Amino acid sequence: MSKDQELRKQAVDRVEEYQEIVNRDPYRLHYHIMPPVGLLNDPNGFIQWKGVYHLFYQWLPFKTGHGAKFWGHYSSEDLVHWRHEEIALTPSDWFDKNGCYSGSAIADNDQLHVFYTGNVKDAEGNRETYQCLAVSKDGISFEKKGVVARLPEGYTPHFRDPKVWKKDGHWYMVLGAQTERLEGRAVLFTSENLEDWTFLGDIAGSNKGSLGEFGYMWECPDMMPLGGKDVLIVCPQGLKAEGFRYQNVYQSGYFVGQLDDQKPEFNHGEFEELDRGFDFYAPQTTEDESGRRILFAWMGVPDQGEESHPTIPNHWVHCMTLPRELTLQNDKLIQKPVKELRALRQNEQNFEISLSQAAEKLNIDHEKTELFLSSPKVEEGFELSFRGAARLIYRKEDGVLTLERNSYLDERVESRHCKIGELKELDIFLDASSIEIFVNDGEEVFTARYFPYPGNNDVLVSSRKNLSLNMTSWTMK
Ligand code: FRU
Repeated sequence: MSKDQELRKQAVDRVEEYQEIVNRDPYRLHYHIMPPVGLLNDPNGFIQWKGVYHLFYQWLPFKTGHGAKFWGHYSSEDLVHWRHEEIALTPSDWFDKNGCYSGSAIADNDQLHVFYTGNVKDAEGNRETYQCLAVSKDGISFEKKGVVARLPEGYTPHFRDPKVWKKDGHWYMVLGAQTERLEGRAVLFTSENLEDWTFLGDIAGSNKGSLGEFGYMWECPDMMPLGGKDVLIVCPQGLKAEGFRYQNVYQSGYFVGQLDDQKPEFNHGEFEELDRGFDFYAPQTTEDESGRRILFAWMGVPDQGEESHPTIPNHWVHCMTLPRELTLQNDKLIQKPVKELRALRQNEQNFEISLSQAAEKLNIDHEKTELFLSSPKVEEGFELSFRGAARLIYRKEDGVLTLERNSYLDERVESRHCKIGELKELDIFLDASSIEIFVNDGEEVFTARYFPYPGNNDVLVSSRKNLSLNMTSWTMK
């Protein structure tokens, strides 16, 4: 048996062996993408090809920690119902033996091409990095083509996560990097044939252009044209918390600007965070066949208490966010849940809430619900409480929205805040152990895992002063 066959067999056996335990977990989600067993992190190779959406993911089948990653694979016709496909890539070759790390997909010449980082550690534990290509005729089984780009001078081997696109007949690849002076950067390569890549230089980063010190490493960059501008999404590591900003261990956000691929240089504005919650990292986008820009992200953050997730005793950890459609309005990214998710709605209920100095319990499915709140008339503020394990608090006086949750490390209450001005509407997606809150039609989003005690099912609205609002709820199929 080849190394690849051996690893595939071990993974398939592992899924079979643990399936029952995994599926019994009360925190298993109902309409989010999860690993069948083990650990999931970044979305990879997201593309719609020949009508089918493919979403690959960083997968470690053998444990609930990080290590030599596989590319797991889901496919879907509608972004809502997903099939688990056979494994796309295993870490079976000299150039990826310690992990087929994150990367992206493009279609060319009737084949699907995936670019990924081969992570290699030598006998002393020193890291090596190789940008690799694999191709597929059917979108399911991949033939590795090996290394297509190597580490240029001036960077450490923290150099990874290729995202590839085509512009004016040329191919470009952006990567996350670290300079030898330990500055996070986004770097650019170009190619005419997808196999030979030329290094062009770095386009943005810490201590570059107008940006001051901005992290020691940038991961998972994604460059896209949107609304007449270029948008660079990236995950900087090493930013210090600053007021409401940068509260998570690592950040995910974007710069809006203009990419000059000749120089190369990306002239851009300020960094904005994509999500205001606790669990959001390594987002990846694709333009689908209808021309929409769609984003998936990992609903987790590395090194942020991962080992304490209560799902770990049941041999799985992490999930993806829901897919979001991106648009750019006045240089701000607006994120809306894709409209296909409405297909999951059933059992619609309408509530007209009017209360003062009271709490009202919503008679909804606590496990899997979409809750749409509109026309709020708020005297002072209000609170939505989710199963005793998370709360959303709106304070009218300063227009601040706060998400609190009970930490699963030590049960202490932790919080994330965002200034939104006037609250007009909330679209909230509750799953067994996740919350996604879209504020004012996608102006802000809070994403978080939460782990209510099984049996604590109450979703409550409460206020000290006068409050009236409309709510519609749907049970998600
Ligand atoms: C981000 C990341 C990537 C890397 C992958 C490894 O979460 O660290 O930079 O390619 O995860 O799983």
